Amino acid sequence: MPPPLTLRPLVAADHAAVAGLLHRSLVQWYESHLGQGARFGDKAEPFRLFPEVYAALDPGDGIAATDTATGELLGVCFVHPRKTHVSLGIVATAPAAQGRGVARAMLTPALELARRTNRPARLVSSLLNLDSFSLYSRLGFVPHTLYQDLVLTVPATGLAVPAPSDAARVRPVTDPAEAARLAAFEYEWQGLHREQDYAFFLRNTVGAWRVWALENTTGDLEGFLVASHHPSCVMLGPGVAANDSAAAALLWRALDAMRGLTPVFLAPCTAAALVHQCYVWGARNVELHAAQATGPVPSARGIAFPTFLPESG
Ligand SMILES: CC(C)(COP(=O)(O)OP(=O)(O)OC[C@H]1O[C@@H](n2cnc3c(N)ncnc32)[C@H](O)[C@@H]1OP(=O)(O)O)[C@@H](O)C(=O)NCCC(=O)NCCS
Repeated sequence: MPPPLTLRPLVAADHAAVAGLLHRSLVQWYESHLGQGARFGDKAEPFRLFPEVYAALDPGDGIAATDTATGELLGVCFVHPRKTHVSLGIVATAPAAQGRGVARAMLTPALELARRTNRPARLVSSLLNLDSFSLYSRLGFVPHTLYQDLVLTVPATGLAVPAPSDAARVRPVTDPAEAARLAAFEYEWQGLHREQDYAFFLRNTVGAWRVWALENTTGDLEGFLVASHHPSCVMLGPGVAANDSAAAALLWRALDAMRGLTPVFLAPCTAAALVHQCYVWGARNVELHAAQATGPVPSARGIAFPTFLPESG
């Protein structure tokens, strides 16, 4: 009989233990199943960024599962309730506690919240990790969009490949007042609304974010892309672009600003022209992810760049 679990909100005093648990569970899972534990480095400290960002963005919404008798942290699950959906992630269970229902128990209240408020729950799940895929599938998630994870090492002197013609029109966004405009664009093209995420990136007080926008010659938005420059998460996304050429311009500009770094980004597998462009720039495939939801997802247009921080689904 596994020891009884207690679920409670995560608090700041948990952050070091959360970082340790995220690191241990990822290293253990990827090493034992794929021989890829080294991807996550040998230190837990960089993983503090996740609870710190989530505590600032969704205070009180992180879930801790603890051993009722000892108080030991056995699992964490982050919940990001938004106007149109409830997004979930990261979810992780301590290696010694896996396979006994910890993740299911943590996800249950989040899924109840989604059901009660008639919103789909959304997340992005690795297709290399069949345990997490199965967990989500058993809980009612259905994949709707396939993404390829690409990495690209940007030379210290900047991208050596020519910029797409629209890249000259990509500009940095720094004013938090623009969050509403970015959110409205995403809602129009993807049916998702999460203005608080964009306001958070633009305030830029936790993490290290840059935001890029592309407008056409009459000033209408054609897309935007967020970039995390924090050493613990060098990643592009979230972002939305109206078409392949807008997506390529945003990507080129955001990548060129990551000189000397190796960012990862997720591109929809259906955006074949964009993916081929990325190969020409030197991108390599490293993983596949499926965006999944528990209910019908709004019909989406354009190209979305999901991210793991915060999970956008
Ligand atoms: C993925 C992870 C969170 C699962 O946590 P867990 O606490 O072991 O999961 P649970 O015990 O709650 O249950 C998993 C469910 O999936 C099922 N499952 C697991 N692997 C399965 C497989 N390969 N095929 C079918 N079902 C499977 C279990 O039977 C269980 O279903 P049930 O509740 O209906 O019996 C854990 O493996 C982990 O921390 N992995 C490393 C971190 C990670 O990759 N996180 C996900 C990405 S953010």
